[in-house]
Amino acid sequence: MKKTKIETTVYEYNSIKELSEEKQLLINQAKEATYRSYAPYSKFNVGAALLLENGKFIQGNNQENSAYPSGLCAERVAIFYANAKYPDIPVKAIAIASRTNDGFLNTPIPPCGSCRQVLLESEERYNQAIRVILYSENKIQIIESVKQLLPLFFDKEMLGK
Ligand code: THU
Repeated sequence: MKKTKIETTVYEYNSIKELSEEKQLLINQAKEATYRSYAPYSKFNVGAALLLENGKFIQGNNQENSAYPSGLCAERVAIFYANAKYPDIPVKAIAIASRTNDGFLNTPIPPCGSCRQVLLESEERYNQAIRVILYSENKIQIIESVKQLLPLFFDKEMLGK
């Protein structure tokens, strides 16, 4: 038997002011995107903002549907739009913010498993890590790659293609 340990490094900050201007801008874009989310069922408004290698920002938010599973998370709305509009440009970073009627959450909300899988495909596709920035009022967490959030991942190598 062999035991393997997998480590994830999470950088934590108590205030947005501790971050670079670029990261602050990205977080503010994610926060702003929550106000255009369509979440009448969960009333959980998620905003995602991507920074692309060409310096462009892309925003996304969760889009729900009366047929519940037909809706989509903010992260996938953002990355699919980025890839649809700029198919040759790698994604450098994603910021995610979540809000309810009581305001922005006090603890960071990480992306769901399906979003991790989709974000990971982008890391593989462009061979470039995507920095993940999780915003909350009391704490901001930064993880330097999606692979760290999904260490045992499925990718195209496994399809034998
Ligand atoms: N949601 C996201 O947008 N991103 C996530 O990573 C987790 C969940 C959305 C989906 C749904 O509209 C609402 O939050 C509640 O699950």
